[in-house]
Amino acid sequence: MKKEGYEKEFMLTGIKGFDDLFEKGNGIPLGSSVLLEGGPGSGKTLFGLATINNLVRDKKRCLYMSFEEPEYRLINHMKSFNWKPEEAIKKGYLMIKRFDTIDVSRSIEALLSAAKKELLIDLNPVFFPKNFKPDFVVIDSLSSIASAFTGEDSRFRIYMEQLFRYLEQNNITSFLIREVSSPTHIGTIFQEKGEAVSFLSDGIIVLYNVIYETGKRKSAIEILKMRGSSFRKEIVEMRIINKKGLIVYPERVLNRKKEGDFKLT
Ligand SMILES: Nc1ncnc2c1ncn2[C@@H]1O[C@H](COP(=O)(O)OP(=O)(O)O)[C@@H](O)[C@H]1O
Ligand SMILES: [Mg+2]
Repeated sequence: MKKEGYEKEFMLTGIKGFDDLFEKGNGIPLGSSVLLEGGPGSGKTLFGLATINNLVRDKKRCLYMSFEEPEYRLINHMKSFNWKPEEAIKKGYLMIKRFDTIDVSRSIEALLSAAKKELLIDLNPVFFPKNFKPDFVVIDSLSSIASAFTGEDSRFRIYMEQLFRYLEQNNITSFLIREVSSPTHIGTIFQEKGEAVSFLSDGIIVLYNVIYETGKRKSAIEILKMRGSSFRKEIVEMRIINKKGLIVYPERVLNRKKEGDFKLT
């Protein structure tokens, strides 16, 4: 029975090839808040949906909180890979909820001005549905939430601290999507709103658009950080295949010597 307890400490995405980036027996520690970072079109939404598709099959309760696309678009996105979101929704394993950033902005402003910082601890930061207790949550995206804050960085920061605390206290494993024009760790001096979330998070997964000198393009992925887990520190190829989903190739490490020069965005 010891073995079972051990296995329960980690969550796997079920994405072909991705879980092999972890050392055997490792994965995403349960209850972790993991940032999913990458440029537009790099596959962040899809990575979140693919993970959910695998988890609901394991009878895990998953919540997709969308601050960008409406529910039907996400459902259609899943169906284009032959996944069955409607079935999972009917069985109570999946909830997809769309939020309007203007409403969020209004509610947050009201919440932050009504309460003192200390009092915020007990509040539900992003209006998690009361009738659905998820094991796993995807928030798509923190960047959209950030845009709901006008001007003041400190407010967004307080809000983020509260969100991370909420997820931790409720032992919810989460993917927090963050759209960045250029991966933050590659060394940009540009400080954007939401920089604080990097060190609040337990893990960071980065998705890349790879652009070769020849004009050829590829997708790639790496695990940049994962507290409490061992993983390979390599950027590897990833593919999005219609009707099939996401496939990661742990053996195909990006290699300038073999493939020519490229840029990562
Ligand atoms: N059914 C599909 N088959 C093949 N490629 C797809 C399919 N659906 C989306 N894509 C591609 O997947 C990429 C990633 O999409 P998405 O996950 O929405 O990106 P992000 O959320 O990072 O902006 C897009 O560039 C799109 O062209
Ligand atoms: Mg997206």
